[in-house]
Amino acid sequence: MSKTPFIIGIAGGTGSGKSTFTNRLKDIFKDQVTVLYYDNYYKAHNDLPFEERKKINYDHPDAFETELLLEHLKMLKAGKSIECPVYDYKQHNRTDEVTIVEPRDIILLEGILVLADSRLRDQMDIKIFVEADADERILRRVVRDVKERGRDIDNIVEQYLTTVKPMHYLYVEPTRVYADLVINSGMNDMALDVMATKINSLIECKN
Ligand code: ADP
Ligand code: C5P
Ligand code: MG
Repeated sequence: MSKTPFIIGIAGGTGSGKSTFTNRLKDIFKDQVTVLYYDNYYKAHNDLPFEERKKINYDHPDAFETELLLEHLKMLKAGKSIECPVYDYKQHNRTDEVTIVEPRDIILLEGILVLADSRLRDQMDIKIFVEADADERILRRVVRDVKERGRDIDNIVEQYLTTVKPMHYLYVEPTRVYADLVINSGMNDMALDVMATKINSLIECKN
C-alpha cells in the first residue's frame, strides 16, 4: 500500500443493487481493493433470544456499531489489517467468526446507511447512491430474503411496512443529496465501466 487509501461509499435502498455493484467491482479488482459491508457491523445481540432479535429495527442508524467501523477504517488507513465481524441474517446476529481484511489502496464501503453518518461521509473520496424504484427493490428483496436470508413472505411484508419502508424515507433516501454519482441499478454496465476506469487510474497512480 502506498498512500492513504481512496474510499468509495456505495449507498442506496434495500434491493437497489448495492451489493451486486460492489461485488462486480470486487470481481474485477480482486485483492487490489478492500471491501467493507456495513451490514457486518450490525450490533451483536447475544443477550437477546431469537424472537426478540427478529423484532429489532435494522434500518435505523442505531442498529449499527459505527464506532467499530470507524476504528477499522482508521486501522486500514494506517496500513493495518482488521478482524471484520461476520453477520448472519438468518440468526439476526453477528457470528463468532471474523474475517481478516487486508489494507489496500482502494476501499469500497457499502451499505444502506453509509452516507447517513457524517463521520463516514467525511472519509469518502467518492460517494455513490444506487437508485431503483421501490417496487423493484421490494420484489428483489422478497426473492433474495426467501432464498438467502431464511425469511418467509409474511415476515418480509410485516418488516417492510413497519420498519424498512419508513426508515428508508427517513434515513436512506435523504442521503442521495450527498452522492457524487447516482447510478441506475447495480447491474448498470456503463456505471461499472466508469467506476472500473476510475479505480484503474487510481491504482496506476499509486504504483
Ligand atoms: P442490495 O445490496 O442493494 O440490497 P442486492 O445487490 O443484494 O441489493 O440485490 C438484491 C437482489 O436483486 C439480488 O438477488 C440481485 O441479484 C438482484 N438484482 C440486483 N440488481 C438487479 C437488477 N438490476 N435487475 C434484476 N435483479 C437485480
Ligand atoms: O443488502 P441490503 O441493503 O438489503 O441489507 C440491508 C437490509 O438488511 C436492511 O434493510 C435490513 O432490514 C435487513 N436486515 C434484516 N435482518 C437483519 C439485519 C438486516 O432483514 N437481521
Ligand atoms: Mg446488500
